[in-house]
Amino acid sequence: MSKTDTSKTATHILPALPYAENALKPVISAKTLSFHYGKHHQGYVDNLNKLIADTNYADLSLEQIITRAAGKPKKAAIFNNAAQIWNHTFYWQSLTPKGGGEPPAALKQRIEAAFGSVDACKKELASAAVSQFGSGWAWLVLDGEVLKVVKTANAEVPWLTDMKPLLVIDVWEHAYYLDYQNRRADYVNAVLDKLLNWEFALQNAS
Ligand code: FE2
Repeated sequence: MSKTDTSKTATHILPALPYAENALKPVISAKTLSFHYGKHHQGYVDNLNKLIADTNYADLSLEQIITRAAGKPKKAAIFNNAAQIWNHTFYWQSLTPKGGGEPPAALKQRIEAAFGSVDACKKELASAAVSQFGSGWAWLVLDGEVLKVVKTANAEVPWLTDMKPLLVIDVWEHAYYLDYQNRRADYVNAVLDKLLNWEFALQNAS
């Protein structure tokens, strides 16, 4: 870049995966992780950097980009790519190789207060994940002080409507199709039972 080039430099980078690409098998294969993280997530980062180069979005944080582009039809591509970067980074953290099982006691109490039991919470998450028509996300969130399950379509993020995400499950087909084909419910139930990172949810709820 020459000294007279005043163009801004977009610098969003793909965050590191918190585990190896083969760490989530057999629930999620290394092949799925390789494509999902290495191609899809990376693709959103590359697209966003191209879309915002030399624009007034170039110097903003990812969260600022999402907030500014939300609800603006002409900025839909920027919003979708930025929000998909955020959602995927949150999704990788929502999973852990030895996940599932019982939530930590402090979270378990809150789940039982809101849903009756951990199983009832998981059933509601599964129902949201399976019933989301087309691409989207199933979330455990805090709405004020209330724990809730919500789903969002495409790249939508719950914090734009003031809900605090605790956990998310990606239900875009690219998340499960190589391993489960059309059996979204099997993918969702396996994630809930074996990969869900309750410690991450507790950190986010604190
Ligand atoms: Fe995805």
